[in-house]
Amino acid sequence: MIFYFSGTGNSLEAAKSIGNYNDERLISISKEMNSENRSFEYTLKDNEVIGFVFPVYAWAPPKMVLQFIEKLKINNYNDNYIFSVATCGENIGDTMKVLDNCLNKKGMKLSSGFSIVMPNNYIIMGNIDSKEVENKKLQFAQEILKNINIIIKERRVDIFQVEKGFLPGILTSVINPLFNKYAMNTKKFNVNNKCTGCRICEKVCNSKIIRVKEKPEWGNACTQCLACIHFCPVKAIEYGKNTQNKGRYKNPNISISEMQITI
Ligand SMILES: Cc1cc2nc3c(=O)[nH]c(=O)nc-3n(C[C@H](O)[C@H](O)[C@H](O)COP(=O)(O)O)c2cc1C
Repeated sequence: MIFYFSGTGNSLEAAKSIGNYNDERLISISKEMNSENRSFEYTLKDNEVIGFVFPVYAWAPPKMVLQFIEKLKINNYNDNYIFSVATCGENIGDTMKVLDNCLNKKGMKLSSGFSIVMPNNYIIMGNIDSKEVENKKLQFAQEILKNINIIIKERRVDIFQVEKGFLPGILTSVINPLFNKYAMNTKKFNVNNKCTGCRICEKVCNSKIIRVKEKPEWGNACTQCLACIHFCPVKAIEYGKNTQNKGRYKNPNISISEMQITI
C-alpha cells in the first residue's frame, strides 16, 4: 500500500516504479484528503508494506502528507514494514526524522527511508534545471529506484540512504517553519491574458482550491506544489514576479491525466 503525493510527477514516477516492482497498490494522498467520503481507514493484507512517497518541501514532508498521517487508521497493522521515499531537487534535511516522529504518534515506525534527487520544480526561488541536468537526474533516479525496489522487496530495515545536505537540523527545524508561515500564501498567484480557461490548473491542483470561472481564482489552503504553474499549457500563471522568465517542468514519464485529482 503506497501513499503518494506529487506536484509535477517525479514522486508519482517513483511511487509507480516501487508499486509495479513490489506489486503494491497506489493511493493518492490528495485524492483521499479532498474526497468527501473520507474515513482514512485502510486494511492491510498480511505482510503488506506501507510506503509514503512525496516531494520534499523546504526540507520536510509537505504539510498535507503529515496531516494525512495524523488522520490515518490502519487495520491489521502488525509491525508491518514501512518505508518512505522523498524526491528532491538537491537534498532533504531531516525529512525522515519529521516523518518518523509523525508515524510514532500513531504507534508506527519507519523501517527504511530514501531520497532521490530529481529535476527541481521550485521556481519561486531559483529555476528549473537545464535539459541536460534534467535528463541526467531522471536517468540516475531510475538506477536508484532499482536499488530501492530490491531493498523494499527484501524488507530490509534500518537502511537510510538519504541526501541530507549541510546542517540538516537547521534546514528542517528553522527554515521549514518559516516556509510554512510565510511562503504558502496564494495572494501572489496571478494569471495573464494568455489564459484560455482550459481548466488544467483546476484539475491538477492538489488542494482543490482553484476555481476557473473565465480565469483561475485561488482559495487559501495551498500546499505550494506549483502544479498549476507548471502544467499551464500556455504559461499564463505566475507567482508574483518570482516565476517570470523561469522555465516550467513536468515529469516526462507521467501524463497530465495521471496528475488530475478527480474526486
Ligand atoms: C514548495 C517547494 C519546496 C521545495 N523544497 C525543496 C527542498 O527543500 N530541497 C530540495 O532539494 N528540493 C526542494 N523542492 C524541489 C522538489 O522537492 C523536487 O523537484 C521534487 O522532485 C518534485 O516532486 P514532484 O514532481 O513529485 O512534485 C521544492 C519544491 C517545491 C514546490
